[in-house]
Amino acid sequence: MAKRIDVNDLNVYYSKFLAVEGVSINIEPKSVTAFIGPSGCGKSTFLRTLNRMHEVIPGGRVEGQVLLDGDDLYGAGVDPVTVRSQIGMVFQRPNPFPTMSIKDNVLAGVKLNGKKISKSDADALVEKSLRGANLWNEVKDRLDKPGSGLSGGQQQRLCIARTIAVKPDVILMDEPCSALDPISTLAIEDLINELKNDYTVVIVTHNMQQAARVSDKTAFFNIAGTGKPGKLIEYNDTAAIFSNPEQKATEDYVSGRFG
Ligand SMILES: Nc1ncnc2c1ncn2[C@@H]1O[C@H](COP(=O)(O)OP(=O)(O)OP(=O)(O)O)[C@@H](O)[C@H]1O
Ligand SMILES: [Mg+2]
Repeated sequence: MAKRIDVNDLNVYYSKFLAVEGVSINIEPKSVTAFIGPSGCGKSTFLRTLNRMHEVIPGGRVEGQVLLDGDDLYGAGVDPVTVRSQIGMVFQRPNPFPTMSIKDNVLAGVKLNGKKISKSDADALVEKSLRGANLWNEVKDRLDKPGSGLSGGQQQRLCIARTIAVKPDVILMDEPCSALDPISTLAIEDLINELKNDYTVVIVTHNMQQAARVSDKTAFFNIAGTGKPGKLIEYNDTAAIFSNPEQKATEDYVSGRFG
């Protein structure tokens, strides 16, 4: 439940290309942290290092340390599959399994982890996860219908239900609303606000208003030019990043002067 993440001097590579350089950051439990910055500055790349998803890309490797409540996620003998069940991820495009029922979609991650679960426990977990994702009332009468029959916003909440069914400590979201309409976006933002009661939440967003609305802390990443590594420029309370940033680059970005 809601663990903290401490990153120490992380470098992230795609083969020889250094994509993200020297990031140190402490991510607080039971809070929402937003990653912002121009396209290509490494937000998604860095996010994926937090649950060992970066290394599934050929040539993908990291140097440095990522600690989850003090435990080194890259330590010898640590199973990346276990890490990914502790630190769940929600992607830009809702990706439910299209032919699978709503119910089986919620259980997909749990079953993937090889857990045996009784029918009554499964039913209870499905309801709890769908309630946690603010989707229960909309789907409770059609749990056996395919997940692809839901709207985009409902599908994204279904993916969030699938993520929380695994009972993670941390939820990572990479632009979870960018494919959604404004109403669905607000539903997801409300949900994120509730999720932080139980989880550590990290969200990548291009939407400044969204970062300002949902996050407690904001990290601004930037890149000096094509082929240069992305860096963490400034990290602070969201209110300070938006109203009183220390760096000129942060101010230019949040006020829309570039990016
Ligand atoms: N699979 C890959 N192989 C090689 N380079 C990659 C790969 N994925 C991303 N990169 C490079 O790493 C850098 C950071 O990309 P990343 O996708 O993390 O940026 P981002 O900040 O998430 O951008 P956006 O806001 O557009 O999503 C870019 O230069 C990108 O071209
Ligand atoms: Mg990205």
